[in-house]
Amino acid sequence: MNLENANQAELQVWEEKLAAKYAEYKEAGLKLDLTRGKPGTAQLDLADAMEDLPKSKMILENGTDLRNYGGLDGIPAARKLGAEMLGLPESEVISGDHSSLTLMYLYLLHAFYHGSQGPETAWAKESEVKFLAIVPGYDRHFSICEELGIRMINVDMLADGPDMDAVEDLLRNDAEIKGMWCVPKYSNPTGCVYAEEVVERIAALGKIAGPNFRVMWDDAYCVHDLLENPRQLANVMDYCRKYGTEDNLILTASTSKITVAGGGISFLGASLKNLENFRKRLSVMSIGPNKLNQQRHVLFLKNIEGVRSHMRKHAEILRPKFEMVQKHLENGLAGKGMGNWGKPEGGYFVSFDSIPGLAKEIIRLAGEAGVKLTPAGATFPYGKDPKDSNIRLAPTFPSVEDLDQAMQIFVTCVQLASVRQRM
Ligand SMILES: Cc1ncc(COP(=O)(O)O)c(C=O)c1O
Repeated sequence: MNLENANQAELQVWEEKLAAKYAEYKEAGLKLDLTRGKPGTAQLDLADAMEDLPKSKMILENGTDLRNYGGLDGIPAARKLGAEMLGLPESEVISGDHSSLTLMYLYLLHAFYHGSQGPETAWAKESEVKFLAIVPGYDRHFSICEELGIRMINVDMLADGPDMDAVEDLLRNDAEIKGMWCVPKYSNPTGCVYAEEVVERIAALGKIAGPNFRVMWDDAYCVHDLLENPRQLANVMDYCRKYGTEDNLILTASTSKITVAGGGISFLGASLKNLENFRKRLSVMSIGPNKLNQQRHVLFLKNIEGVRSHMRKHAEILRPKFEMVQKHLENGLAGKGMGNWGKPEGGYFVSFDSIPGLAKEIIRLAGEAGVKLTPAGATFPYGKDPKDSNIRLAPTFPSVEDLDQAMQIFVTCVQLASVRQRM
């Protein structure tokens, strides 16, 4: 039955049935967690073979002893791997320690306080600094801005990427907007892959934005395909070269969800001019990254083909989990007018939009029945979802069996909250 067509008597019966089912779930005292997008243990196990690094591989042919200090940019082979992942020449990529988020944070600190092209370009010199936040989006991007006092302006994510008419309009009229967060492939949380036209328009933004504008191109899911023959993301730096906006782009990626989330390697890609300036910060904070770990990664993954073949093993583990989520959403909610959801072809999340005003209530109901969900509002700046509607489901960590149970409960909570709102 569609919620829209149900009369009050039907809603009453429906609510009683759902409330009884919900009470049973509550009684069962389950403890299930669909909050953070962590790799599952079986995915981490896939990289176990990487851990042993023979002593013979710790000294490179050119004599570099990886055990010692130095090599601020990371080892050449790791930079090459990152360059293949990001679609850049090796000279435009540096490889760091385990977290790309750390590099993003550091880049923003650098641009804010020190200036991406020297002290005169520091954002801190502006009366106010603003960023475009594509929503729903990644909470940790928003936390970085919040911490720096950068005011975020929401722009909607559409089916093929950010609402570019809105983005261009805002930038044309406000030179205080200094940047924009993008997760261009399998966006967190909607799973969107930016269309080529959107990529080109983003690459051209440097021409209409105020000075020192940076697109933060977080390609965290660049190789995280669930399907064979995945959609290809257009090369944003190639388009930037076409428009002469290479300095407006900062790209990042990591192996966190390729090898091991707590011990991978990260990459930052940028124009030579941007890298030259950013190195000044790196050289103050470190004498160099963990080169042994970079070598381990390179020996294990080898090149982009090696990465893709490894990611096919991840996809085999993850596909049944994503299918389980879709099965419950379709069986329990399709055609009922109780919300919409995405069907991502990769990445780590499924984004669900409830009827406006219900996300908090659904999350509360699910929590009390033992299913922990990401807090309502987490996918929006300042934790405020203006429609109180978006819920991020993270199916990678739980087992398929746990997901089966968790999704039954989730669907019941969506139904219950939706029916009650209508009564
Ligand atoms: C969009 C996005 N960027 C970055 C990260 C974290 O990356 P890293 O582990 O390299 O710091 C995540 C993790 O969930 C993510 O979803």
